[in-house]
Amino acid sequence: MAAEPCWYDSDVERVVVSEAEIRDKIEELAAKVAADYRSVDSILLVCVLKGAIMFLADFARALGRCGPPVELEFMAVSSYGQGTTSSGVVRILKDLDRDITGQHVLVVEDILDSGLTLSWLLRYLASRSAASVEVVTLFRKPDAVKVPLSVKYVGFDIPSEFVVGYGLDYSERYREVPYVGVLRSEVHARPAL
Ligand code: PRP
Repeated sequence: MAAEPCWYDSDVERVVVSEAEIRDKIEELAAKVAADYRSVDSILLVCVLKGAIMFLADFARALGRCGPPVELEFMAVSSYGQGTTSSGVVRILKDLDRDITGQHVLVVEDILDSGLTLSWLLRYLASRSAASVEVVTLFRKPDAVKVPLSVKYVGFDIPSEFVVGYGLDYSERYREVPYVGVLRSEVHARPAL
């Protein structure tokens, strides 16, 4: 039986990464992380709100099936950008709830675009005496590759176009879309968004 169309399907011009591709990639990333961290007591996943929540939820469960215990922390940051570009100047809206001294920290990001948010975040976490700090990002755009960033786990390198879905928003909408896609140009012209 064909599924009923969802409200967002007609707004999406093209799917860039499908739901099945995302699911398979998360299993693959979790297996790699589990192998690399097999000798540690636990991994502290630090999720950067809000976009990374979908990835965090699926990744944590995948890792739980094959890796050591995980613990979760959340941070919210706001970058002072102009329009859709970030400047690299970051303000903490929600900090870690506890001391991370001695913990194996894995930053969970949905997307690296300019790479500036992560660049700042890694400097910030480096000052907090963690045992190790690594990064897993589900998506990466070409500009982020140019920044000298140590990103150990990357899901998909995607083209430099505006995408929504799987946590990524346009004016706070489309985060619940289970795949990643490009919106039709008419959507950007709608006055309500
Ligand atoms: C997005 C994304 C990353 C950041 C990447 O967050 O989740 O944290 O931008 O951009 P950069 O590599 O250019 O710094 P955003 O600020 O859109 O907030 P959101 O996750 O709440 O939507």
